[in-house]
Amino acid sequence: MDLFSQINDTEREEIISLRKELEQANYQYYVLNDPTMSDYDFDQKLRRLQDLEALYPDMFDPNSPTQHVGSDLDNENNVAERHTTQQREADNVQSTNNAKPSTRSQKGFVQVAHKYPMLSLANTYSQEEIEDWLRKLPANVEIVCELKYDGLSISLWYENGTLTKALTRGDGTQGDNVIDNIKTIAAIPQHIGIPASEIQTPAFLELRGEVLLSWAAFERLNKEREAGEEQLFANPRNAASGTLKLQDPNEVARRGLTCYLYYMLGENLPANTHYDRLQIAKQWGFPISDAMKVCHSLEEVMAYIHYWDIERKNLPVATDGIVLKVNDLATQEELGYTAKSPRWAIAYKFPAEKQLTRLNAITYQVGRTGVVTPVANLEPVQLSGTTVQRATLHNEDFIRQLDIREGDMVWVEKGGEIIPKVVGREAPHSGSLEDGASAYSLEVKGEEYTFPTNCPECGTPLVRVEGEAAWRCPNEAGCPPQIKGKMEHFVSRKAMNIDGLGSETIDQLYSQGLLHNIADIYALQLDDIAKQERLGEKSAQNMLAGIEVSKQVPWARVLFALGIRMVGETTAKKIARRFPSIDQLQWATVEQLTAIEDVGEQIAKNIIAYFNDLGNLEIINRLREAGVQMESQEEEQTPQSDRLQGKSIVVSGVFSLHSRDEYKAMIEANGGKNVGSVSKKTHFILAGENMGPEKRKKAEALGVAILTEEEFLQMLNHE
Ligand code: IVH
Repeated sequence: MDLFSQINDTEREEIISLRKELEQANYQYYVLNDPTMSDYDFDQKLRRLQDLEALYPDMFDPNSPTQHVGSDLDNENNVAERHTTQQREADNVQSTNNAKPSTRSQKGFVQVAHKYPMLSLANTYSQEEIEDWLRKLPANVEIVCELKYDGLSISLWYENGTLTKALTRGDGTQGDNVIDNIKTIAAIPQHIGIPASEIQTPAFLELRGEVLLSWAAFERLNKEREAGEEQLFANPRNAASGTLKLQDPNEVARRGLTCYLYYMLGENLPANTHYDRLQIAKQWGFPISDAMKVCHSLEEVMAYIHYWDIERKNLPVATDGIVLKVNDLATQEELGYTAKSPRWAIAYKFPAEKQLTRLNAITYQVGRTGVVTPVANLEPVQLSGTTVQRATLHNEDFIRQLDIREGDMVWVEKGGEIIPKVVGREAPHSGSLEDGASAYSLEVKGEEYTFPTNCPECGTPLVRVEGEAAWRCPNEAGCPPQIKGKMEHFVSRKAMNIDGLGSETIDQLYSQGLLHNIADIYALQLDDIAKQERLGEKSAQNMLAGIEVSKQVPWARVLFALGIRMVGETTAKKIARRFPSIDQLQWATVEQLTAIEDVGEQIAKNIIAYFNDLGNLEIINRLREAGVQMESQEEEQTPQSDRLQGKSIVVSGVFSLHSRDEYKAMIEANGGKNVGSVSKKTHFILAGENMGPEKRKKAEALGVAILTEEEFLQMLNHE
């Protein structure tokens, strides 16, 4: 009998896709400062992943987003191996500072190992879970309630009383030293002040806290950016995070960051409670919030939560919840840590702000892949600091399930992301006759909702693929927003990264008949561009220079830029590794494609359909003739063979010679298949340090061989 619950394919795919989605969301949030998912959605998905992983321990992966904090590092380390639980706990006690040579981020910040790992907090949106958490603590423990400031965390090192380093969280193990920028923050002392108390300042002191931009500074900054036609920040957190990673401390100073500190670490520190330590820090001149409170009962904690849920709206900075911490430090130590967070603390997050407003009309937006999204045109309403006029209505099923009609009062919500969404309808229905008593008092009676049958942009009959919620316009090559959307995607930063060709310009050149598809970009002439309104000779030259540079973009990114449905950035990389040229990819079979990690049947079909379209083949030829990279350069290629043909291999643990992703690529390049969990069919496990204990047990039980990285490389004939 199997030792573990049997996982089915749907659940396995769900785990894989949740991990991918959450990694991407972390990257958008921490590195790009451009979140695409609301905090709430992120937390819900993370929780679902945690539940699934708990159910199937066999699927344990030290690289899962449940096992590490999101990383703000903008270099390769961001995707490198992460420390496992065991390592983190060991690190927690020992200094790892001198263990690794410092590296630099792309932006030139020196990366430094944290003395103590920088963890995250377990969080919940439910008051019952707060009660459960409190109940499980030892009897009569004191709880410190604090505000959860919504900025980015910072670790400040004071050596012999002087500020020597300021590290971002990074990947939790090492962070960027942004000390020059931190020194512009007036609230942060550069030297520990002369203590009013008798307490001696320790030789080493670390204070952690949150760097913030006030609402007022955020609004000022966004106004300037609007005037300069620069992209706006979605919220103060993103603005603060973008600011702290600037290379020009003068600009950082001008924007006016601020800070609150909420955690003291080090050795031989004064006091034995969290609260007392922070009060001492306050005496030493550190910015400690006055909103902290020691609570002795559930009632007191709840009263604090309810008070600040309202009062926080009057604060000058953004907060997104309340943090509860066990006050006594010895009890904290007893409770310890999980891989990601201390057991002695929990965050209660406030639900996203919602507003009720009138749905004036439903219009439609056609995206790059032809998906038709219904859009709510709303009576303008104030929501989390901005005026909201448009919100997504998701899809037909959503509208039908809630029976939403034009004229209804609807609830609108804005999470961390930029696009607000309609989340519900106020009952009773506007003017619905079944509503009896309320019917006579309502003036508006909306028509029952019907989704359009034809594309609102080009008139083509819409199609709905079975199993999908979206209606799609199939006129890929002739529907204007799809054509423009494909070009916008093609030129975007992570694709061909063509400077000087933004969406407005694409729109303009498209309506002038100069751009019909992505290949036309390489046929643009200086004169044609220069004579356009708003552009001129200089912009035309810049644009052409940008187009020229894009010819150096490597094949994997070109593949992503082509915009094949469901082929995202990471998938494109994996496909490009297996098929180092477009000529090889063009003839790939479903079997070959699905052997690549993360490529399912649907993606494989999309790729094949893409190459079956003559219009696409013509575009590819024109791109090739223009000099766009359609194959990997020698040095990018992983050595290939069929030595692992037909073998299913599990990669598990932390490696030192190559990264885990590199090993997976080697397996694919040599004909093998990467699989997530050990079964009878597994040929061998490539095991690094700290391989999941459950995997090892199972491998031993099934007699599956376990190879070290050296053995594996020898097998592939690497040194
Ligand atoms: S304590 C080991 N206290 O929330 C515990 N964190 O979601 C460290 N945060 O990474 C965190 N206000 O950036 C703590 N009063 C507070 C906080 C706070 C904001 C942030 C912090 C942390 C994140 C976790």
